[in-house]
Amino acid sequence: MAGRILIIVDGPAALTYGTPMVTALRQRKYTVQVAPTAYPGPSATAFVSELAWTTLSGHPCKTIETLDAEAFRQQDLILLAPVSHQVLDIFLRGKALEYLQAAGKPVLAAVPRLSSDPQEDPTEFLAKMPPRSILLQGDTLLDLGAMGTLKAPSLEALLLTVDSILSKNDLAGKRVLITAGPTAEDIDPVRFLTNRSSGKMGIALATAAALRGAEVQLVHGPIQTTVPALTNLHAVPVRSAEEMHHAVLECWTNLDIAILAAAVADFRPDHYAPQKIKKVDGQALILNLRRTPDILAELGTFETRPFLVGFAAESDDVEVNALLKLRKKHCDLICANDIRKPGCGFAVDTNQITLYSPEEAPLHLPLKPKRELADDILNEIVRRMK
Ligand code: C5P
Repeated sequence: MAGRILIIVDGPAALTYGTPMVTALRQRKYTVQVAPTAYPGPSATAFVSELAWTTLSGHPCKTIETLDAEAFRQQDLILLAPVSHQVLDIFLRGKALEYLQAAGKPVLAAVPRLSSDPQEDPTEFLAKMPPRSILLQGDTLLDLGAMGTLKAPSLEALLLTVDSILSKNDLAGKRVLITAGPTAEDIDPVRFLTNRSSGKMGIALATAAALRGAEVQLVHGPIQTTVPALTNLHAVPVRSAEEMHHAVLECWTNLDIAILAAAVADFRPDHYAPQKIKKVDGQALILNLRRTPDILAELGTFETRPFLVGFAAESDDVEVNALLKLRKKHCDLICANDIRKPGCGFAVDTNQITLYSPEEAPLHLPLKPKRELADDILNEIVRRMK
């Protein structure tokens, strides 16, 4: 992999988190320069010396306090690992922020949660960052010995994100709409109809597209999965199919690609009961359901439309159903998966997808993490759009 990375490290995490990261990035052939913090007290240089950083990274180490504008301009990516309270303070107070903004290079900020520290909210900081910048949250627990524990993104997740930002910027200037997750159709104030979708596939696609430079609108139903904070990813939370339909039409201008990965409920209760429906002994409850708008099918009928991608989660006759959907909904591509297969479908982190299009033979993609699969799907979309 090619690319120059400036890594800003801080505190005890420099030792436990920073050193393996520098080594792993070097092993991937990135050019790495380290800028540790050097304030009095538990700064990065108090834990790992400048000489050690120079040795480990193979490049002269300069403390963050001594970096000039050129040091930022020379990079392809600025990695803040972790974006601690002190690092935020340095950027939000000093010249470093000016240099960072002037350089215009993406920033990857690994958000730490130190057991002893107050919770940080770097969202405000993200808003000041150049496009393709991301706040990466994580739940990998690091033991900092006497300093407590730190929760941060795993090294694996961090490397994947670095690779995504540095390998491709092929969606720069493109506008992408993605739908994700289930919808919830309310019956009364406490009950609703929904499905098992976690939104993970759609979120993976939105993250990958944004890291590759696209301006992404992610319209998603009620989900537990966190949507990563990215400068060019705008999440639009909705609840029902009706709301999703409305939100999609709102985003429907100058789009280049639309990927409808949401598991939209096909039916909703005919009437919403404003008061909780009471059960009556011995009496069944009959719900009348009516169809929700088929968003994808409607988009397929528009005269000017972007490259249109649908999903098909099937439990039988995958190929027949996928091809039927492709024609019926006028898509350019259908991503089909067999939800009965192990490691596929709802609420898991992996998936196996076959791509169907009107022009080409089906393309079977291997079982892999949804985040990696998202890049494969985007590669195919980019290739077929040319
Ligand atoms: O017909 P089926 O629900 O299997 O089609 C799945 C595809 O259609 C998915 O891309 C899904 O997001 C989309 N869809 C939709 N609106 C609906 C139902 C499905 O956009 N009401």
